[in-house]
Amino acid sequence: MTAPPAFDPAFRAQFELLLRWRRDVRHFADRPIAEEEVAALLETAMLAPSVGNAQPWRLVRVRSPARRTALAEHVDTANARAARAYGGAAGQAYRALKLHGLREAPVLLAAFCDPAPQAGHGLGIATMPEMLHYSCVTAIHTLWLVARAKGIGLGWVSILEPETVTALLDVPQDWTLIALLCLGYPAEPAAIPELERRGWQAREALAERLFDR
Ligand SMILES: Cc1cc2nc3c(=O)[nH]c(=O)nc-3n(C[C@H](O)[C@H](O)[C@H](O)COP(=O)(O)O)c2cc1C
Repeated sequence: MTAPPAFDPAFRAQFELLLRWRRDVRHFADRPIAEEEVAALLETAMLAPSVGNAQPWRLVRVRSPARRTALAEHVDTANARAARAYGGAAGQAYRALKLHGLREAPVLLAAFCDPAPQAGHGLGIATMPEMLHYSCVTAIHTLWLVARAKGIGLGWVSILEPETVTALLDVPQDWTLIALLCLGYPAEPAAIPELERRGWQAREALAERLFDR
């Protein structure tokens, strides 16, 4: 039996720093990610927990330039539509935000959920099938952290019509889109979320989010 590792205070301090410096990244440096690095990131993300160990995530690497362009144009259209929901100063502020790096990110991934994975044999989803979606999110978050630990940024893109992305990527119709993900080296690593730096929304205190009953 392998002895479990002892995570010492220095590691814990580093881990907290990783959490504090994990950012959603939309501005990417003009620098590729080595293929071995991409493969290693994805392997590590597979360590994520999932309901029944179903591992329902299905990751699509978008390699086709034509598909990348189509995705970027689709998100721009959806984003312009979303912007119209805000009037006045909020509309101006919204339009000034950069909400995806789909054209510049060296690596594009789409994360889907298989609604009926063989793995797991249905365990844990009898009453809450949405646990499969949550499982996919754990894999994305794991990828987010392991990428950041290697200096690589991830940007989650969700301003889109999932059916359109499913059709553009030619995947099984019953897969559910969970996220479009941009990966690359950040143009400028930052300790503070971009939406906070731009005055859109800051982090709020735990006290606002914690309830006793
Ligand atoms: C489910 C989810 C969807 C998101 N979708 C988008 C998006 O479409 N565009 C974007 O710019 N950021 C998106 N984000 C990133 C958030 O804006 C970001 O996580 C938040 O502002 C906090 O910043 P931080 O991740 O740098 O801490 C998304 C994040 C999550 C978790």
